[in-house]
Amino acid sequence: MVDQRVWDESQLRKYDFILKKIPRLPYDDPRVDEMIAANQPVVITGSRLVETAEKWDLDYFNENMGNDNCTVIYSRNHKFKFYDDSKASPDIKAEFTPTRKVSMKMSEFVRRLKEWKKGDERMYLQQVLNDTVGQQIVNDFLGFKWSWVNNIQKRNSWGSLTYNLLLIAMEGNVTPCHYDEQQNLFAQIRGLKRCILFPPEQFDCLYPYPVYHPHDRQSQVDFDRPDYTRFPKLKDLRGQEAIVGPGDVLYIPNYWWHHIEALMRGGYTISVNFWYKVGRTGKVAYPLKGYQKVAIMRNVEKMLVEVLQDHNEVGPLLRSLVVGRYTE
Ligand code: OGA
Ligand code: ZN
Repeated sequence: MVDQRVWDESQLRKYDFILKKIPRLPYDDPRVDEMIAANQPVVITGSRLVETAEKWDLDYFNENMGNDNCTVIYSRNHKFKFYDDSKASPDIKAEFTPTRKVSMKMSEFVRRLKEWKKGDERMYLQQVLNDTVGQQIVNDFLGFKWSWVNNIQKRNSWGSLTYNLLLIAMEGNVTPCHYDEQQNLFAQIRGLKRCILFPPEQFDCLYPYPVYHPHDRQSQVDFDRPDYTRFPKLKDLRGQEAIVGPGDVLYIPNYWWHHIEALMRGGYTISVNFWYKVGRTGKVAYPLKGYQKVAIMRNVEKMLVEVLQDHNEVGPLLRSLVVGRYTE
């Protein structure tokens, strides 16, 4: 079998950020629990969480996926920036969005992937694993090491599992920098992905879109062409990165920024994530953590958009609240 872990620098996209390595630890190392409890990212090895999915590949999906439609995102470039259709509205100046969502059967996706030529739009399958997938895949899913993840969930008082997303990426596909409001155990099954993470405290450096915007939770910064004039605090950005391969599980703490790229010239990749609701915090401890402040900001922002009924009024109102009063 080809060692799927071999890669070289030329397969990574180039960015000018300062990055250190996310620690890699065996699943039974006590430091894994400590890092998860402290909301710190860690690559967990040897857990065999999705061992029953090791055999998953395009042919297997073709045969076993069932006949329901899957969501496939198309992009005219290598970036697949999430776009929330429910937040699109005529008064939000539509930016040019190079992506579109298409529903198709797995067999159709596999066929199109095999026929894909350079210059065609890129594809990225992102499908929730539900019980409409074929029996064989349901069995594989039931064979995941649920006892291991359930333990992590309990020990850290996470909320319920919301769902598992199946991600099949073409080589070189990029999910641009964003944060999710959930805990994520990101299991890599096939091929290699590079994950670059930034803590919630770096909110100021990453300039997320406003909450009402379809790109809510995404950074406005284009990592390929960072605009230091428009986003001056970018120079203070400090991240952590890891290359994850088959068998690895990356813990992405809630509200942590992440940019994920399938390595170039590495073939397609398969990942499945486990998303958990953030647990209810019993007693709030002060000083508040970075992610709690981000949650507060989101709520204030949402409330202002709602009561002002016009998102253009939010900035001026906040400015008159702050400038000369809460500024030096
Ligand atoms: C996630 C995520 C994107 C990817 O799991 O939260 O953003 O390309 N994944 O794997
Ligand atoms: Zn994400």
